[in-house]
Amino acid sequence: MVVVLKLGGSVITEKDRPETLDGDSLAALADAIAAAGTEGLVVVHGGGSFGHHHAADYGVSTTEGTHDIEALMAIHGAMKTLNQFVLSRLHERDVPALPVHPLSAAARDGNADLTLMTEQVATMLEEGFVPVLHGDGVAHAGEGVTVVSGDELVTELATALDADRVGLCSTVPGVLDGDDKVIPVIDDFEAVADLLGVSDATDVTGGMGAKVRELLGLGSPAYVFGPDAVDGFLAGDDVGTRIE
Ligand code: IPE
Repeated sequence: MVVVLKLGGSVITEKDRPETLDGDSLAALADAIAAAGTEGLVVVHGGGSFGHHHAADYGVSTTEGTHDIEALMAIHGAMKTLNQFVLSRLHERDVPALPVHPLSAAARDGNADLTLMTEQVATMLEEGFVPVLHGDGVAHAGEGVTVVSGDELVTELATALDADRVGLCSTVPGVLDGDDKVIPVIDDFEAVADLLGVSDATDVTGGMGAKVRELLGLGSPAYVFGPDAVDGFLAGDDVGTRIE
């Protein structure tokens, strides 16, 4: 059983203050992960006020790259710092977590298509480790280095490892409808496109709409939920919104 869990950057950091951890939130998530047992678990975390702050400063995004080495080391360095915080909180709870830095394990071609090495992740899982990846920089043909988001990594990992379940832990309790109520199940993009404020399925510009569409294309069920539901997700329950 392979489970891919993404911890959103806004859940584990204080989004408005540069390079500030949300220590209580990260500790609670680490408690839930340690208590659940971690066989087959892959963790991915976002950037929050670590990566995004520097990426915004230097104008680097998933499509706009740079060759500026100072910019790239600032973005990658901040993400490694955040990764180290996540690893330490897991190690303190005896979770055998190992870092995997996507800058050294991924690339984008000239069409911006991402390739991620996953052999090392698969072998770590077989050996009982918990690989911990993160949003990062990625060498991008014709662009220098762009950003790879945690969500993109989740998609690549879920497909390559044939994941049984995928979880995206964010600050919201699920995908919300127009009345801010959690939509329990999404199995058809067109059926929810209006609710998500996306009028044309071919013109998704980002946000929850893009995320939902991406997750619908996976071969495995994906869940979007808030921090309180991580233990339920890891226990195999239906939590938040199920996208399948
Ligand atoms: C962003 O990762 C990583 C960098 C900016 C380098 P994500 O896009 O997955 O981060 P969050 O979860 O939205 O903060």
